[in-house]
Amino acid sequence: MEKIHAIITGVGAYLPDYVLTNEELSRMVDTSDEWIMERIGIKERRIQRERGKATSDMGVEAVRDLFSKTGTKPEEVDLLICATVTPDMRFPATSCLIADKLGIRNAFAFDLSSGCSGFVYALSTAARYVESGRYKKVVLVGAEKMSSMIDYTDRATCPIFGDGAGAVLLEPTTEEYGVLDEVMGTDGCGAKHLHMKAGGSLFPPTHETVDKRWHYVYQEGQAVFKWAVVKMADVAEAVVKRNNLDPSKVWIAPHQANLRIINAVQRRLGVSAEQVMINIDRYGNTTAATIPLLLWEWEKKLKKGDDIVVCAFGAGFSWGAIWLKWAY
Ligand code: UT7
Repeated sequence: MEKIHAIITGVGAYLPDYVLTNEELSRMVDTSDEWIMERIGIKERRIQRERGKATSDMGVEAVRDLFSKTGTKPEEVDLLICATVTPDMRFPATSCLIADKLGIRNAFAFDLSSGCSGFVYALSTAARYVESGRYKKVVLVGAEKMSSMIDYTDRATCPIFGDGAGAVLLEPTTEEYGVLDEVMGTDGCGAKHLHMKAGGSLFPPTHETVDKRWHYVYQEGQAVFKWAVVKMADVAEAVVKRNNLDPSKVWIAPHQANLRIINAVQRRLGVSAEQVMINIDRYGNTTAATIPLLLWEWEKKLKKGDDIVVCAFGAGFSWGAIWLKWAY
């Protein structure tokens, strides 16, 4: 039997209207446009401010966009995976809420939580379902309302993150396109450097956990930075080398945590700036949504047969890179 590969056949996205600029942030905390641009590379980020709206609502809009672009009907979907660390609720899974709001009734749905590596891990997972031959239309969503767990009095974290959602459709092919290789890794030693301490089974919410501000993202920036630079470049380089990809042609779709991390990956791979997809300046770090948002924005520039290396590093620590041959 011919080997089945999982190809991306469409990309959709949603970004909230509200633009939080560095100027506005510098009126909230002791920071400046110069510092944020120089140290992180973010000019502005989108924030979902509408009351009663959550991650699933952004995911729904991204999938609607995907459906209208690909002509997909809700009843055709076999599986929906949502990568997120900001689910609407602890349970049920946000993917179930997205499926319900869209009338996706013939699919099973689950969430995948792996921080900023969420989309890469979900892409790897979704590809296995398609490659099995059993699932023909798999929707993969990366959606985050990061603003729901950011402390807007903490200048070390509040400039970094933004809200948004992206979605891709995965379908089978027997041609040599789609998800073709991957290198993944995790190291739980990273938990102490990047986490949200309370709200889980370790520290269920109490007045004390709220008073101690344990329901917000905690990050030791420098420790995370050092790991991110090394691990993201290591896996991206491994994927390029072992598949003999041409460094002068390959696209890089890196997770958008810090422009300096992205530039370090670019230098290690020896690729030109034009080959690297970047949107951090406009959207900040949207965690599991950064990579589908990149693919959505670059979709028009991509050609059938283009090689793309998607790579990410995030909480866990977790990291990974995937070789994707663009199929349309
Ligand atoms: O997506 C998940 C993975 N996350 C990442 O990959 C993030 C990796 N880390 C980073 O991107 C960077 O470490 C940060 C952007 C978080 C921080 O940048 P940094 O260059 O590592 O700054 P720092 O934490 O070493 O702080 C340098 C100085 C400190 O002041 P002192 O102690 O030298 O006086 C901070 O207090 O900058 C200060 N600082 C700020 N100043 C103005 C920290 N945040 C700000 C701010 N505005 N927003």
